[in-house]
Order: sequence, then C-alpha cells, then structure tokens
Amino acid sequence: MIQALSVASEAYPLVKTGGLADVVGALPDALAPHGVATTTLLPGYPKVLAQMPDAQVVHHWPALLGVEARLLAGSLGDHPLWVLDAPALFARDGGPYADASGRDWDDNWRRFAALSRAAAELASGAVGGRRFDLLHAHDWQAGLAPAYLRFAGGAHGTKSVATIHNIAFQGSVDAGVFPALELPPHAWGIEGVEYYGAVGLLKAGLWAADAITTVSPTYAEEIRRPEFGMGLEGLIAARGARVTGILNGIDPAVWNPTTDPLLAARYSADTLDARAANTRAVEARFGLDGEGPIFTVVSRLTWQKGMDVLASLLDDLVAMGGRLAMLGSGDRALEQAFRAAADRHPGRIGVQIGYDEPLSHLLQGGADAILIPSRFEPCGLTQLYGLAYGCVPVVARTGGLADTVIDANVAALDAGVATGVQFDGVTPQALRGAIARTIALYRDAPRWRQIQRRGMAADFSLENSGARYAALYRHLLG
Ligand code: ADP
Ligand code: GLC
Repeated sequence: MIQALSVASEAYPLVKTGGLADVVGALPDALAPHGVATTTLLPGYPKVLAQMPDAQVVHHWPALLGVEARLLAGSLGDHPLWVLDAPALFARDGGPYADASGRDWDDNWRRFAALSRAAAELASGAVGGRRFDLLHAHDWQAGLAPAYLRFAGGAHGTKSVATIHNIAFQGSVDAGVFPALELPPHAWGIEGVEYYGAVGLLKAGLWAADAITTVSPTYAEEIRRPEFGMGLEGLIAARGARVTGILNGIDPAVWNPTTDPLLAARYSADTLDARAANTRAVEARFGLDGEGPIFTVVSRLTWQKGMDVLASLLDDLVAMGGRLAMLGSGDRALEQAFRAAADRHPGRIGVQIGYDEPLSHLLQGGADAILIPSRFEPCGLTQLYGLAYGCVPVVARTGGLADTVIDANVAALDAGVATGVQFDGVTPQALRGAIARTIALYRDAPRWRQIQRRGMAADFSLENSGARYAALYRHLLG
C-alpha cells in the first residue's frame, strides 16, 4: 500500500464551499481500490472540530509558525483524518476563508502556511511518528507544503504532488511575510516562493512539487497560455510534461439518482418518467407554473461562472418559453440582478440566494437542463451531476466542460452520442443561441430522452480519477 497524506482547506461532508471539497472528500475512497491508503489533513475550523467528538490528540506543537497547535485524529468516512487544531488561526466565526461579512481574513497566509508546514512535517515523518510516501497538496492553501518538504531536504524520500483546482486563486501575499514563514533565506527567489516580488503560495507549490496536476486535460493545456494561466503560465509551461490533467469524477455514494435520499423520487435511465415528481417539487419550491423546460443554475455567482452574461439574458430566456430555478450566492450585484428578474417574471423565474446542499440535489433531479456559461472552468462538477441525473448540461466549451459534454450537433445526434449543448465564447449571443437550441431539442421529446439517457450512461466515476492518481503516485515513487 502507498501511504499518502492529502492536505486541503475543505473536504465534504465536513466543510465545503465548492467542488474542491467534493473531490478531496471522495479521493480516499477512489484511491483505496488502487492500493493507496489516504490520510486527509484539514484545518481545525469550529465546524470540523464539532464533527469529531472522539478526536485523539496525536501531536502538540508549542509553536507552529509561532502559534500553539495540536494534531487531532478522527475519521473521514472509512479513512483516517487529521485536523490541525490551532485556535489562534481557526477558532473563528464565518467561513473557511472570510468573516461573516465575506471579507477575507488578513492572516490567511499564516493560517494556511501553518497548515502546509504541519503537512510537510507530518508527511516527512519529522513529527507524528510515521512517514508518508507521498504528500498531495490541493490548491493555494496547501501550496507551501511541497515547498516546506523540499527545503527540508530530500532524505525523507517523500514525494509531492500539487493539484490545481483553480489557478485564479493564487495566494499572493506581501513579501514582508517571508521571514514569518520560517523558510531558509535561499527560499526567497524565483527558485522558491518569490512571485512577481510577492510571496506566492500556489507558485511555491508549483515550483516545488514533483508533479503538478490539474482537474481536466483541456485546462492543463489552457493554463499554459496567459488568458488562463493568470501569471503562472510561464512556470506551467516550463514544468512541461510534469503538468497533467486528471479529470474529476463524482462520488456515487453521494450523487446517484437511484439512491439519493435528497430527491422527492428516485429514478434511473429506465424510469425517467418518475423524475416528474422531482420537477413538481422544484416548481413548488421556486413558485414556477405553466409549461416549458426548467433551466437551473447551482453555482457561485461570479465572473468566472459567466453569471453576468446569463443575468443579462433572463428576459430572453422567458420570452423563448423557458423557466429558471436558480440556487446560488456570491457577488451582491448578481444576486440582486437575479432577484429582480424573479420579480419581473413571477411563475417563470424563481431564485434562491444562499447555499443549500439538499436543494442542489433536488434541482439536478428535477430541472430539465443546467446552465454553466463559465468563462473558465478547471473541471466543473455540476455538469457531471447533471449528466448523472438526466439534467442536460448547457455549457461553455472550456476546461473540463469541454472534456465532459458531447454537444448535440447533427453528427452527434445522428450517432446517438450527444449528452448536452456546448457553445463557444461567453457572449450574450452565444448563450442565447445555446438556450434556443436547448429549448428546440427539449420540444423533440424522443430526442431529449435520448440525450438524457446517453448522459446518464456516461461514466465519470471517481474510480477513474483514482486509478490515474494512483498511477501517477507509482510513477513518482519509481
Ligand atoms: P466550483 O468549485 O468552481 O464552485 P464546481 O462545479 O466544481 O465549481 O463545484 C461546485 C460544487 O458546489 C458542486 O458540488 C455544487 O453542487 C455546489 N454548489 C455550488 N453552489 C451551491 C449552492 N448555492 N448551494 C449548494 N451547492 C452549491
Ligand atoms: C475548482 C474549480 C472547479 C473544479 C473544482 C474541483 O473549484 O473552479 O472547476 O471542478 O475546483 O476540482
């Protein structure tokens, strides 16, 4: 068995703000059949500590980057979980990264540097009493972990993988914090943590890791270019073949319409008529009436997700005969725009601002199509949930959306392989065209059923991602 330590800032079901949590939470199960035993390390947010009443203390740091901390052991499903309990850093109200008003904590660099430092010390066996073969660091919050490991010297033999879930979030901090990171002086430089004169937490990880992965093959190509690399394209390109794309998968224990307890009615590709009960439940929850396909959105409301473009088209969507059930939160102006559209179109547009895990399942199980007009999308999970649930994805052709949806063009329809609708370029015209095309397909009921069924038959299980990560680990370990 390969022993891996996976370090991240979130993991479903303990703490989640987005797809990162889904993937980190499901990875141990996905890797286990491929000979990898995974321990997950998370920050000790109050919410996480509250879910581990029987935690055991396995290590004590009098001063971890100057802060007292303890390592607690618990479990994440059937797998070991370690939690960094450092009250000075994590015992606060609010979310993982920001206070209740949405303002990022000023000391996020220290919070996640401490997490990364702990990860490196634990992985190398310097503390905690065991050594890991491999350290897997997710996103900028864990970016310093491979760097701490590297600057500790290679004698421990532990290899590292850095996974980019979103290169837009880089953890770039004022250079003045460098001494507080307790790295050797030579770590300040291009060969190290320096990034355009600042400290780059993600950059440090990408520089130091033995391998870099991102969450889809297309995004792995895109981030070699300035439009997507957001400043890191040079480093990504320089690391060449060490950068690969491993597509995310979905956890069948959580996302499966035949067993999902959060649906009003369960169904399979053979019993799609039973889905109607979920559609009625969505109509009731969102105050929708009349006819026409129900589009849904389950998303952070941000520029990345193209939600401004969608917001500009809501009157058109209704005029074309569509309905919308939207669940999301994010930019205040966008929340307002969606609310205003719901006020203008009672019965046709329903909006729920907020984060609601159970409702996200009901929407996938009851809406007809899910709109994902992202300007960039490293992988995207909601289109995968849509495919599995017969909620046809309507997506921009970028990143993981390009890799997972087969556009219903004439050839794909004739071959019976279409699973959704794709469009190029996140512009009002392109998105309007995609919505119109979706509505036309919906009105051709046999075709629509075929698209739903084909999507439900697609295999995006985490099992596949697990096999690929395990093969990468083996390759690194020789
Ligand atoms: P990202 O991580 O960029 O936000 P993904 O598509 O990878 O995008 O993952 C988003 C995850 O968060 C999915 O599990 C999705 O269902 C969930 N999600 C997003 N917004 C909400 C919301 N408002 N309520 C419930 N779940 C949400
Ligand atoms: C990020 C990306 C999203 C991806 C998720 C999990 O949040 O924005 O595309 O699916 O990470 O890898």
